Amino acid sequence: MSEDKHNLFGGTPYQPQGEIYFNDGREIELLDFMYAHPHLKDMRGNPQKVLDAIDEYGKTRKYLMNIGEYKSKTIVDLIKEEKPHTIVELGGYVGYSAIAFGAALRNIGGKHYYSLEMNPEFAAVISMLVDLAGLSDVVKVEVGPSSDSLKRLHEEGTLNHIDLLFLDHYKPAYTPDLKICEELGLVSEGSIYAADNVIKPGNPLYLQYVRSTVQEKKKSFGQIDSTAPRGNPNLIYDSQLIEGWEPSGVPDAIEITRCIGIQA
Ligand SMILES: C[S@@+](CC[C@H](N)C(=O)[O-])C[C@H]1O[C@@H](n2cnc3c(N)ncnc32)[C@H](O)[C@@H]1O
Repeated sequence: MSEDKHNLFGGTPYQPQGEIYFNDGREIELLDFMYAHPHLKDMRGNPQKVLDAIDEYGKTRKYLMNIGEYKSKTIVDLIKEEKPHTIVELGGYVGYSAIAFGAALRNIGGKHYYSLEMNPEFAAVISMLVDLAGLSDVVKVEVGPSSDSLKRLHEEGTLNHIDLLFLDHYKPAYTPDLKICEELGLVSEGSIYAADNVIKPGNPLYLQYVRSTVQEKKKSFGQIDSTAPRGNPNLIYDSQLIEGWEPSGVPDAIEITRCIGIQA
């Protein structure tokens, strides 16, 4: 690690220690840490102070699989530039990204941030920390597998368009979940997708899909197993890799994909 990067990450061992690095009680321990924090009073209604305290836990206690300070800046900048109205995140964990991006969304006048989280305990932690940050009016936590939540929100009429889709859950689910959004018409020209961890641990199938032309997608469309989501091959994508670092300092990247049209 270069000296600069060492300083950037505070020179602390903010990385997984051993094989078990989540769902071992640390997420509830984080809540205890937050609510016993000497600066709890300052955190109320202050998203940045809540993020700082989550980072402090990750740096000084146990690793947390959050997007972290560095890569979250890329997405906050994207929100400032693109001014989405509705953001959907797949994979919320303890709410770091929901708080960072929910605050950025509210600052530009956006309205809805849906955080889709499968694990009910993690979802409860997200809700509590979002509430602490004063973002409950913008961020809504939906518990369950993302594919079910996407379909349910669409069926209920709660969600009919996604301006920014943040994919940060189970890596093999990125492509099928994007295809569900395509099939339901939740994404269209102007929608943007930000997919985390496309280098570490990597997601070649997703990258291949969003970098394919309409012709290439149409070719493989007929070969898709009938039970899997088929997507909409007519959406035209422009996709680019933005390099960054994991909270541990390990290089990673976010793939930013823009839907730039629909082939008739
Ligand atoms: C890397 S963490 C998300 C980190 C979070 N976006 C952040 O940066 O603060 C991945 C999360 O996805 C959740 N997850 C995995 N598969 C999922 C699925 N199919 N649907 C919803 N959530 C899922 C896991 O429970 C975990 O909390």
